[in-house]
Amino acid sequence: MCGIIGCCSNHNVLHNTINGLKKLEYRGYDSCGITFLLNKEFHTFKSIKRIEDLSKNINIDGGLAIAHTRWATHGKVSLDNAHPIYSSDKKYIIVHNGIIENYLKIKDTYLKEYIFYTETDTEVIINLIDYLNKKCTMLESIKRLYEILEGTYACLIIDKNEDKIYFIKNKSPLILGFSNELIITSDILALPKNTKKYYRLKDGDYGYITKDTYSLFNINDQNHFLFLDYYPLNYDISLKGFKHYMEKEIYEIPDLLHNYINKKYENRIINTLKNSNKIYLVASGTSFNAASLGALFFSQISKKESYAFISSEFQIDNTYDDKAIFVVISQSGETADLIKAISKIKKKNYEVIAICNVENSTIKEMSDYFININAGVEIAVASTKSYTLSSLVMYQLANIIVDNDYKEKLTDIVDNISSIFDVKDKIKKIASYISNKEHLYYLGKGIDYLLCNEASLKLKEISYIHSESFPSGELKHGSIALISSSSIVIGIITDPSNANLIRNSLEEVKSRGAKTYVISLESLSLDSDSIIIKDFDKYLSFIPISIIIQLLAYFTALNLGNDIDKPRNLAKSVTVE
Ligand code: M6R
Repeated sequence: MCGIIGCCSNHNVLHNTINGLKKLEYRGYDSCGITFLLNKEFHTFKSIKRIEDLSKNINIDGGLAIAHTRWATHGKVSLDNAHPIYSSDKKYIIVHNGIIENYLKIKDTYLKEYIFYTETDTEVIINLIDYLNKKCTMLESIKRLYEILEGTYACLIIDKNEDKIYFIKNKSPLILGFSNELIITSDILALPKNTKKYYRLKDGDYGYITKDTYSLFNINDQNHFLFLDYYPLNYDISLKGFKHYMEKEIYEIPDLLHNYINKKYENRIINTLKNSNKIYLVASGTSFNAASLGALFFSQISKKESYAFISSEFQIDNTYDDKAIFVVISQSGETADLIKAISKIKKKNYEVIAICNVENSTIKEMSDYFININAGVEIAVASTKSYTLSSLVMYQLANIIVDNDYKEKLTDIVDNISSIFDVKDKIKKIASYISNKEHLYYLGKGIDYLLCNEASLKLKEISYIHSESFPSGELKHGSIALISSSSIVIGIITDPSNANLIRNSLEEVKSRGAKTYVISLESLSLDSDSIIIKDFDKYLSFIPISIIIQLLAYFTALNLGNDIDKPRNLAKSVTVE
């Protein structure tokens, strides 16, 4: 989703600003822009294509710039709506991440005289600055935004008469970095390698940076600014011969699994889980699908009452038990829906364990306990290795809290998992058949149904083929009406206790003309199955299956020539509700 960066220096900042912007690309965007302030004049460049295209057109450089990658929320993708956005008199300019919920009311209350040139909610903020600044200083105007704006916002603002970048933050991430210049950005990944220290802004912080210094305040006047040492994040963003990050990230899974054989979890996390009587898991998208697996592991392996909730649907009431613990899962650590859910949980004083792939994240900060899945940076919008590893973390925890020894089973997987790529050609064959189809259904039961949910999400997000997953038993209660001779149904069978029932449902769709494919474990397979994999422990089969379903989505999207790492309309880090 949107990314922002601003740089102030005695040197030219084009290089660092554009480099930072490129590092924000993975979050997903549909337009981008940059503004330099030179001798009290703004120079703005925008593109509705990629940052490469934006860079080509920039013909100046300077010591002060703000830039943005936009993921459209209010207003179509267009040059006008791309940020930076001017105030109507062109005296101020802004980049903004987030959504202003009361923008129409603000327009009505304060800005009736103003002309608007964009369809964005952001333009309201910058005109409001113009309005407020007529009566007070720029810093006071920035502070007053907290009283007026409702919603989420991280903003960088320039007044063309001042060599400063003003900033304000509410519920959208913002980080201040100190390298050869002062940099303020929405994502720690965008900081240059020579950054020495950084500060993760808190809600209520505001201030400005200049070429030499910064001023930082908080609306509550708390003196809590904690500056942290910055260690260059050692992430490898080369494609290493792969065509796409998604493919590379799937292929990283076997190596990453090695680190899990002897993975240690903090005793206080283990004890907290042991002492809880209910485990509630909350997450979005693919992380929710991992959370569903987690709920199954905690209920079936640890015999704890466990439920998974979708973050955006999560409502906390008074029925949760005193001894309940909440586990939240997020690859990015910045998902707005989950952040909101955690706020609700914390208001009721429950403890939260975060399972996350980003150490310096808002979700880590909000939680009482943190488990880093250490998947390495995940760039493709479609989450792959993070799904597999966060599910594995929950499998391990579920076993550890009841003192089960799972190491032998895990070692078996780790030693054999690379052979899963041997079925690549079979996966490609299915992919080439489904690539020109419009609909596809996945069918499973129990753990296999949960895997089908992820298979279906992965396929639809990068291939744009309509895909749904059904619990096999539920099919005849309605969805079977969709089945015809043009239907494709993929069954996943890894659980002996459900295998026959899934087979029955597959027969039912076959007899109505559907073309079926089956992915199964050897001991549960039939000769006619499309992909048969070595038997692994029932609860660990999600590892090979996740790789297969991820590859199936990947090869299908590849056949279709889609932009696999940046699928349309999607963002890596969903920072708005
Ligand atoms: O960063 P998070 O794990 O919190 O993100 C949650 C979802 O937005 C994310 O999993 C999304 O569904 C991915 N595009 C799935 O591939």
